[in-house]
Amino acid sequence: MELQKASLRKIGEYIIRRCEKEDLHHVASINWTSLPEHYSSYFFESSLNELPEAFLVVEKDRTVVGYTMCRIEYGLSVFHKFRIARKGHIISLAMLEQHRRKGLGKNLVEEALQALKDRGCSEIFLEVRVSNLSAIELYKKLDFKIISRIRWYYRDGEDANMMGRLL
Ligand SMILES: CC(C)(COP(=O)(O)OP(=O)(O)OC[C@H]1O[C@@H](n2cnc3c(N)ncnc32)[C@H](O)[C@@H]1OP(=O)(O)O)[C@@H](O)C(=O)NCCC(=O)NCCS
Repeated sequence: MELQKASLRKIGEYIIRRCEKEDLHHVASINWTSLPEHYSSYFFESSLNELPEAFLVVEKDRTVVGYTMCRIEYGLSVFHKFRIARKGHIISLAMLEQHRRKGLGKNLVEEALQALKDRGCSEIFLEVRVSNLSAIELYKKLDFKIISRIRWYYRDGEDANMMGRLL
């Protein structure tokens, strides 16, 4: 019998667990249907190889219905001027539409934040479209603040809010 994959968190019928290589085509498909920013399969795979602890999926009935993908960067701190920091970066987050507003996105990000903290990150940041009010609300609920506005960040010319918080 196939062993149950280790879950990090259970929310009703859903589980949050680490992404595995065989999940990546589901992740790519959720990405395609949910966001205008798409990535190559090479990018998904190398993100998983680099930081499997913070590449997480939500699963229901053995089907992947959401994901988040992160990486770690070194550079100037977003919060402390002139200081170098080890920063977590949320690259992508999405839930299939029919599974939204169940608290899953929030739980997913909370698990990713813990994983990044465990990997020594002292802060976290991300970019989000200024029009993406649902995601901005979610991040605010997790104590992220808007740090700056990045003009023309997206290909279609939309601005991004850079949001972040200390871990
Ligand atoms: C953003 C997204 C991941 C949220 O996932 P979710 O599982 O629906 O979010 P949650 O149910 O955990 O919501 C947590 C909180 O975020 C806020 N929120 C989420 N969706 C919202 C919406 N449509 N309108 C207003 N607030 C919203 C609320 O404060 C919510 O808490 P509440 O339900 O108690 O009011 C999901 O809408 C999505 O996949 N969107 C398309 C992809 C995307 O925009 N990704 C983010 C890119 S930066």
